Amino acid sequence: MTVIKAALLGFGTVGEGVYTAIQTHQSHLKKILGAEVEIVAILIRDKNKERLVDSKIRVTTDFQEIINIPDLHVIFEAIVGEEPGHTYLQQAIDKGIHVITANKVMFSKHGEQLIERSQKENVKIGFEATTAGGVPIIRTIQQLLQVNQIKKIQGILNGTSNFILTEMRNRKLCFEDALELAQEKGYAEADPTNDISGKDAFCKLMILSQLVFGEQPNWNEVEIEGITSITQEQIAEAEKRGQRFKHIAEITRVGNAIKASIQPIIVDTDHSLYPIEGVDNAIAIEASLVGKITLQGPGAGKLPTASAMIEDFVYIFQQAPIQEKILEYQSL
Ligand SMILES: NC(=O)c1ccc[n+]([C@@H]2O[C@H](COP(=O)([O-])OP(=O)(O)OC[C@H]3O[C@@H](n4cnc5c(N)ncnc54)[C@H](OP(=O)(O)O)[C@@H]3O)[C@@H](O)[C@H]2O)c1
Repeated sequence: MTVIKAALLGFGTVGEGVYTAIQTHQSHLKKILGAEVEIVAILIRDKNKERLVDSKIRVTTDFQEIINIPDLHVIFEAIVGEEPGHTYLQQAIDKGIHVITANKVMFSKHGEQLIERSQKENVKIGFEATTAGGVPIIRTIQQLLQVNQIKKIQGILNGTSNFILTEMRNRKLCFEDALELAQEKGYAEADPTNDISGKDAFCKLMILSQLVFGEQPNWNEVEIEGITSITQEQIAEAEKRGQRFKHIAEITRVGNAIKASIQPIIVDTDHSLYPIEGVDNAIAIEASLVGKITLQGPGAGKLPTASAMIEDFVYIFQQAPIQEKILEYQSL
């Protein structure tokens, strides 16, 4: 039996999700890929944390141990921040290893360069999980772009902000109490700054911009406003008029320029993002032929995000030349 050897960088919420998804879907993956998927190594930062992993798997804090595994086919990257993720993925690509990442902070800044590098090295890079978690927005856009021109995207790209706005309206909570509720439910980090300030949505919007327009606007010119200044009274006033506050990331091409913003917007009932509630993400795309499409679903979480990474994995390994390469390895 052919074996695809995989390593995980990071074993937190997402890394553990990928581990679980591979373990629980082994026979299905074998059926569709004609290969067994073996996780051979996991990179972590803290050796003292207890991890429930198979004893055959190498758990290490040293990336060089992973990159030097002779016949490693793919790396799933789910660590936090620009570095060391960027450096590790460059090294993996240079070694001919396919990479799949969930790291939006890193990919919003270095995605273009990593894609160029992977094309030169003839390896694949998957980044579905970087934007809107389990919602298959990257693949949908890639598919649409085969025949459509995309004119505009509007998205609710941060589930924490959407949850807070929803609870402020439904339960008549002030911002602080709604944030506390989000933290109690595990939807917001102990430090929720990136979510509520719009920075998290910004990273995702830049990844979408690169994909849709082949470039990003000047980061300093993007208007970024979070949800911290919205009051319960403003939300209640809007509701009386039949309107809702939504935190919307928007990108459009105006002439030769790309215009991007992330801000709270009051929307009417006929707006595609009006009904999006709780921690869900949604993305409304306006395209030349198909018209308007809206995708909605879980924008974060262990298994939805792992699902996006496994979808990338399957897509990459279903491609014929890659399968041939694995067989070559096996016969060496
Ligand atoms: N959580 C989500 O729902 C979600 C959704 C979409 C995308 N993402 C992205 O996915 C990535 C992972 O998120 P997460 O929620 O899984 O984070 P997390 O729970 O904090 O886990 C991060 C993991 O990375 C490891 N790590 C961190 N820095 C490292 C370093 N320098 N070297 C080696 N290992 C390191 C940590 O090791 P220790 O275990 O030893 O601390 C931990 O296992 C982030 O980039 C995030 O933006 C997350």
